[in-house]
Amino acid sequence: MEDKAINFPLNSTKTNNVNSTTNETVLEIWGRASLQGQVKISGAKNSALAIMAGAILCPTDCRISNIPSLVDIGRMSQILQALGVKLTRNGDILDINARDIVSQEAPYDIVSQLRASFFVIGPLLTRLGVARVPLPGGCAIGARPVDLHVRGLQALGADVMIESGTVLAGVKGRGGRLKGTKIYLDYPSVGATETIMMAATLAEGETIIENAACEPEVVDLANFCCSMGAKIKGAGTQTITIAGVDRLHSTDYSIIPDRIEAGTFLVAGAIANSELVLTHVIPEHLSAVIAKLKEIGCQIRQEDLNCLRIIPGHLRGTNIETLPFPGFPTDLQAQFMALLAVSEGDSLISETVFENRLHHVAELNRMGANIYVKGNHAIVRGVPFLSGAPVQATDLRASAALVLAGIAARGKTVVRGLQHLDRGYENLEGKLRNLGVNLQRVTP
Ligand code: EPZ
Repeated sequence: MEDKAINFPLNSTKTNNVNSTTNETVLEIWGRASLQGQVKISGAKNSALAIMAGAILCPTDCRISNIPSLVDIGRMSQILQALGVKLTRNGDILDINARDIVSQEAPYDIVSQLRASFFVIGPLLTRLGVARVPLPGGCAIGARPVDLHVRGLQALGADVMIESGTVLAGVKGRGGRLKGTKIYLDYPSVGATETIMMAATLAEGETIIENAACEPEVVDLANFCCSMGAKIKGAGTQTITIAGVDRLHSTDYSIIPDRIEAGTFLVAGAIANSELVLTHVIPEHLSAVIAKLKEIGCQIRQEDLNCLRIIPGHLRGTNIETLPFPGFPTDLQAQFMALLAVSEGDSLISETVFENRLHHVAELNRMGANIYVKGNHAIVRGVPFLSGAPVQATDLRASAALVLAGIAARGKTVVRGLQHLDRGYENLEGKLRNLGVNLQRVTP
């Protein structure tokens, strides 16, 4: 039999040893799946996490609906309970009462697993005048510092120090109340914008955040705070103005849909050459994503106010640079890389938001992709098909990319590291199975 030229990637890629003998539960996916039907998009994880922290600002009942069932939501609930907050979950509805905060310290063991738990520092500080929150630490995608959060709180009049891995923040004088000011963010950090915005809601006077993040989740948090009586203007633009008030009141608020989950399912339709309908989406949150899918060769139709249809086409390579909103979202970079891996021609993907968010390249190459990494750039040379293989998920969005690659690949893909997937996708397997994908969890 003649030797077949095998497409090895140009760079030697360190690959994870996935031939482990542990009895870890894995996800088996049988590829070349054709999808059909429609999928309801769940509430936005990154809105829910920030809004749950924001509920600390309110000393009475809050009802938040459209909360997705995710491991990260469970962890944030544990953080709030450790602080004395009462929570009752009923389906997608979360009733929260933060009247009695019994501790100003978030537990280290949970904070170290969920970066978003750092979001409680702003509400705790502005409500109580003191807060002790462990540093969230880095993760697979980067160092994830919190210097912009800390500098913002200091600008609002807090004394902040870091001792034994914990951020200690307190307000001396003025009855422990923060004082509004003008704050310029060196980078439009989503988390820092949210921390400062929440802290400023109960501060004395006006706060202006310049170079603020414009992400829809920031707007959702601002709308949630305003529904409790906060006075916030300009959310969604680079300048947010907050006029401090003395006290907030209860609210009944619904979270926006998850644009990253929506983008993930649009890629599922494209990579499986299948027409799909997504319901409960907000199309204007997906402008950059829709533009790129059209460049790649798909048609996207808005069928109803909150409904998108993807009609696949011949896939062609393109270039993607991740940027703060409204630029292309970093949280969809890995998923689009899986799609571009089987698109005709070359693509260049530049990850500018996080310094280490290309771990999925090695695993996609294990499936026959031809991707070369140089710094924070990946050159993707499209191949006609991927081949199923055992692969290791390294972070939340990389795990989604590997599932998408498994849907398109020939044969069986076994995805390990499902703890990453469960953090951020509500019932992903059930939704994919309903669309026609043959996949199952197996504990060997
Ligand atoms: C939020 O993280 C999201 N997480 C991330 O989603 C998302 O990727 C990111 O925003 C960007 O859109 C949540 O909302 C819970 P950043 P966040 O502060 O707030 C640097 C997912 O997969 N930076 O905008 O941590 C930072 O290191 C997750 O759902 C500082 O240098 O993101 C990064 O390079 C992943 N100092 C850049 O800014 C700081 O004080 C963007 O970070 C803060 C951030």
